[in-house]
Amino acid sequence: MNKVRKRILSGMRPTGRLHIGHLLGALENWVKYQDEYDCFYMVADWHALMSEYEKPDATRQNIYDCVADWLAFGVDTSKSTVFVQSDVPEHLELYMMLSCITPLPWLERCPTYKEQLKEIKGRDLFTYAFLGYPALQAADIMLYKANIVPVGKDQLPHLELTREICRRFNHLYKTDVLIEPQAMLTKTSKLLGIDNRKMSKSYGNTIALSDEPDVIIKKTKKMITDPQRIKMDDPGHPEVCNVYSYYNVFAPEQSKEVYDWCTGAKKGCTECKSIMADVLIKRLEEGQKARKEIVRDKKTIQNILKNGAEKARDIAGKTMKEVKEAVGL
Ligand code: TRP
Ligand code: SF4
Repeated sequence: MNKVRKRILSGMRPTGRLHIGHLLGALENWVKYQDEYDCFYMVADWHALMSEYEKPDATRQNIYDCVADWLAFGVDTSKSTVFVQSDVPEHLELYMMLSCITPLPWLERCPTYKEQLKEIKGRDLFTYAFLGYPALQAADIMLYKANIVPVGKDQLPHLELTREICRRFNHLYKTDVLIEPQAMLTKTSKLLGIDNRKMSKSYGNTIALSDEPDVIIKKTKKMITDPQRIKMDDPGHPEVCNVYSYYNVFAPEQSKEVYDWCTGAKKGCTECKSIMADVLIKRLEEGQKARKEIVRDKKTIQNILKNGAEKARDIAGKTMKEVKEAVGL
């Protein structure tokens, strides 16, 4: 008999085209999990709306772009379920249920909440829904009785809150309907943007997975290198150079060589960057080819999301039925 595979649920907010930081931080792992786990990958469009409601960027186009990148870089819908959160209304039902039992202080003291209120400028996040962000995330996870949630370190408080809400629910209603998920900590990508700040679309410093070779060449040319290396025969300091850290990530086998040519002033930064550009172009080539195929017909993704939502609703509906029964609704 087949061993029942553990279930994974993970999600991303649809911020449009993904960049190379997403590839290393999440996507590569998602692709690996597919053979071992029953994977559910969700576009968290409600979560996006919570912070972007004034200028919604959870548009269908962003969702398509995001899903196109997932598929192009290896998420395989014959193995995994790919769906959009708002296509499965049960998320909001369970969210409401969990909201009833989640004490306000649990949400108010959540470090991600406090941080975002402080750090995100230019947007009013003092809304009712934004406070409940982790409660919706808890619903996302427990609706599918997911056992494992791969997340970066920044998301750990949300996982802990999910577990607390789970215990409270099962305790209050003397049931075992909800399953406590485990976090699986994925290494967050330390890749900086081309301007040495955190790689983020809002900084305009990303290299997108779908950037054409000429764009990659242009962007890598702009990358900041060792500021002390002014002339080509100045020896460089790779440990302070962002280009070098890209080599470490994308071509570790070449790192030593790069270190030598940099510290020995054997190659200039222009050449070093152009070789890096080639590395990136080759790394992304196959996925980009696949992406072009995928987006040729808009129906492909529409169908994938339709099938995904059906599969998801199947499970979500069953869980909601059990939840309602447990509570007496
Ligand atoms: N909050 C997550 C993030 O910003 C996205 C997300 C929403 C998520 N629902 C989820 C991640 C459920 C894991 C599981 O990255
Ligand atoms: Fe950076 Fe390469 Fe220039 Fe050295 S040679 S400073 S590693 S870009």
